[in-house]
Amino acid sequence: MVRPVLIRPPLSSSRPAPDPSLPIGVFDSGVGGLTVAAALRRRLPAEHLLYLGDVARLPYGTKSPATVVRYALQAAHFLVRRGVKLLVMACNTASAHALGEVAEALAPLPVLGVVEAGAAAAAAASRTGGIVVAATEGTTASGVYPRAIAARRPDARVSQVACPLFVALAEEGMTAGPIAEAVVRASLGERFAAPAGNDTLLLGCTHFPLLVPALRAALGHGPALVDCGEAVADQAATLLAAHGLTAPEGAGGIRLAATGGAGRVARHAAALLPGWTGGTPVEEVDL
Ligand code: DGL
Repeated sequence: MVRPVLIRPPLSSSRPAPDPSLPIGVFDSGVGGLTVAAALRRRLPAEHLLYLGDVARLPYGTKSPATVVRYALQAAHFLVRRGVKLLVMACNTASAHALGEVAEALAPLPVLGVVEAGAAAAAAASRTGGIVVAATEGTTASGVYPRAIAARRPDARVSQVACPLFVALAEEGMTAGPIAEAVVRASLGERFAAPAGNDTLLLGCTHFPLLVPALRAALGHGPALVDCGEAVADQAATLLAAHGLTAPEGAGGIRLAATGGAGRVARHAAALLPGWTGGTPVEEVDL
């Protein structure tokens, strides 16, 4: 069963609707979700974002589904306590294992996962239907991507590769150079050798877009590299409008919190987020 993107009906008048000037809450296990935050900032420049990186407990991709559900609920509740009007789970592993639980716990607050957006983008990008999904062990084991892609492209030939080392490389900022390229080649090289017939690589982990320099160097410019960022940002825009929660005109911004590694989050934010100057320090928090 493909889990639907949870687009709830507009909030009922019996409950106080959230304030449109509240931020959008965004979380990931680490810095990967900043790739989604960057897409949200580009698409919705008037919105404020509150980002949480659960760096102290990453990676999520090697943890059991039950542990990921627990971590995702804790991250979500943290953001809700701070006050958010929409939650974006900018983590494929958490979206794969915990979207239903988090959406239920937070109802009627709207909650968006990233899997449906990634699947839709890959299904649209592939000419041959040969799609390789690179993701964490947890996401590949869950089978969400093959199911979600098949629902859109029954002709697709989807194969999956768990790439846990990519998460560590991205976190450490080793996104180019011989080590990152060797890891990419060893993990994915065969899948894009000519006889395989694959033309699309779905980056099914929000850390992986950070590795585009190494992916391009190792795999060449043949495969389409697809991630969920832009599609999630479009879904967020639609959802906010449907709920009457679009921010008033003006310049938005982003505040960052992390359960550890504040310096690392700040370095990645400075590289990824347009206009983030580091003026407001990354807040270290305990969930
Ligand atoms: N960025 C996350 C994802 O999209 C998780 C990486 C990890 O913590 O293993 O799956």
